[in-house]
Amino acid sequence: MSALGDLGEDIFAPLGEALGRIAPEIEVAETARILSVGNGVAEVAGFTDLHADEVLHFPHGVVGIASSLRPGRIGVIVLGDTARLRPGDRLRRSGRVVDVPVGEALLGRVVDALGRPVDDLGRIDAAERSPVERPAPTIMQRAPVEVPLQTGIKAVDAAVPIARGQRELILGDRQTGKTAIAVDAILNQKDTGVLSVYCAIGQRASAVVRVVETLRKAGALGRTIVVVAGGDDAPGLQFVAPYAATSMAEHFMAKGRDVLIVYDDITRHARAYRELSLLLRRPPGREAYPGDIFYIHSRLLERATHLRDKHGGGSLTALPVVETQAQNISAYIPTNLISITDGQIYLSPALFEKGQLPAVDVGSSVSRVGGKAQLPAFRAVAGSLRLMYAQFEELESFARFGTQLDEETRRKLTRGRRVRDMLKQKEHAHLPVPEQVAVLLAATEGVLDALAAEEVAAAEETLCRAVRAELPALCAAIAAGEPLAQEARGALIATMRAALEGRGDGDA
Ligand SMILES: Nc1ncnc2c1ncn2[C@@H]1O[C@H](COP(=O)(O)OP(=O)(O)O)[C@@H](O)[C@H]1O
Ligand SMILES: [Mg+2]
Repeated sequence: MSALGDLGEDIFAPLGEALGRIAPEIEVAETARILSVGNGVAEVAGFTDLHADEVLHFPHGVVGIASSLRPGRIGVIVLGDTARLRPGDRLRRSGRVVDVPVGEALLGRVVDALGRPVDDLGRIDAAERSPVERPAPTIMQRAPVEVPLQTGIKAVDAAVPIARGQRELILGDRQTGKTAIAVDAILNQKDTGVLSVYCAIGQRASAVVRVVETLRKAGALGRTIVVVAGGDDAPGLQFVAPYAATSMAEHFMAKGRDVLIVYDDITRHARAYRELSLLLRRPPGREAYPGDIFYIHSRLLERATHLRDKHGGGSLTALPVVETQAQNISAYIPTNLISITDGQIYLSPALFEKGQLPAVDVGSSVSRVGGKAQLPAFRAVAGSLRLMYAQFEELESFARFGTQLDEETRRKLTRGRRVRDMLKQKEHAHLPVPEQVAVLLAATEGVLDALAAEEVAAAEETLCRAVRAELPALCAAIAAGEPLAQEARGALIATMRAALEGRGDGDA
């Protein structure tokens, strides 16, 4: 320093002055311009600072999400119609991430992916908002699943039981009854206190209207939020919809409520994201999906859980729906989802064609955790059902070769067929747990053996009526989660046999 002496100051003084003049002129650009726009994405330039996933405001009230941050060019997912946007239009940053309204005010409403009402019921007065992307609960916040989520559908509750906080995939070709199962699961929560969120992604408007009407007619809409991003909506909205729907559901979970969420369907969600990624020029991978397609689905479904009591004890049960093409469950998206979820309900077009409805293929369906939460009486009766059914199906395929069958084999085949007939169920014809236990017991213990296939449905009604009327205390005990004692089992079978014989006498 001393070596430079006065000379040093002489040199640096003007520089300092110059810097002082320049500094105030550096300003963070809060606005930018559109370089190109179309098909649901835009490229913009001009921001000097921007956060990942930040909301950007375009003209005409259109918003977008900053998605690919590259120097000089930012790829934006537009959450609205790009038709009115032009290159050169200005946009501004918001400093926020995408959020949606949450809370009671949304129940009974049909909203879009940003929580804006699309029904005719006026504005939504929600006091709170929540970001659409939120971190999933940590391991330490999670509790094991312990309460069943009854769908009221025999083939599901008995063979692939679902627990509150579980993620169970509904998988199958188009028109196999996937939506029907999901909607029935929502309808059956009438007296359970479970709230529901139905998230429709990429569907035709008429299909969504049908679901909403079904919910309304059954009086279930008031405890449901419907989130819709239709097939004609911007791919960005279809992409955001399930995250937004999950945030709305999480709000209730955090308050200790049990919530059921249906994503119908994830295949369309994946396609919307693929479209966006290709337009944003991200490198395509398998089946042209971007490399992070697994991650976008796992981070969504990781948000479903059962929280510890310390964290409110609420739960979020997720039923993602995946549509397969020509029963190809080893395609990219189905395999991803199978590995992310805790099991799958596989619906078979072959069963559907045969009129075996719901078309649940018991052998290809599994619930990896739900059995632990099944009510004890239910488990006692349904425990051996899957194994018995698998053996029956194998036996039946051999019997087709026309071989001579011994008495024992013939008896087993009859029993299996009656079980299969018993698993048939109409839409919206929910069966409470005690009745399910009863008819399941009837089928597996041979009470139905003497009947013809077409008599099973009527017999089932007779059995349920008899059990309800004559064994109300036992029904209450089963529903309350008490185990099925040997005498109780005997009483059920005796009551049901008597009811069927009585019916026989009456008919004669
Ligand atoms: N258990 C059932 N009994 C009678 N009809 C059913 C049953 N399940 C589904 N369906 C009918 O089958 C058709 C296809 O069902 P849907 O749930 O829309 O299929 P997906 O969602 O797989 O395309 C609908 O018309 C529906 O009413
Ligand atoms: Mg459907």
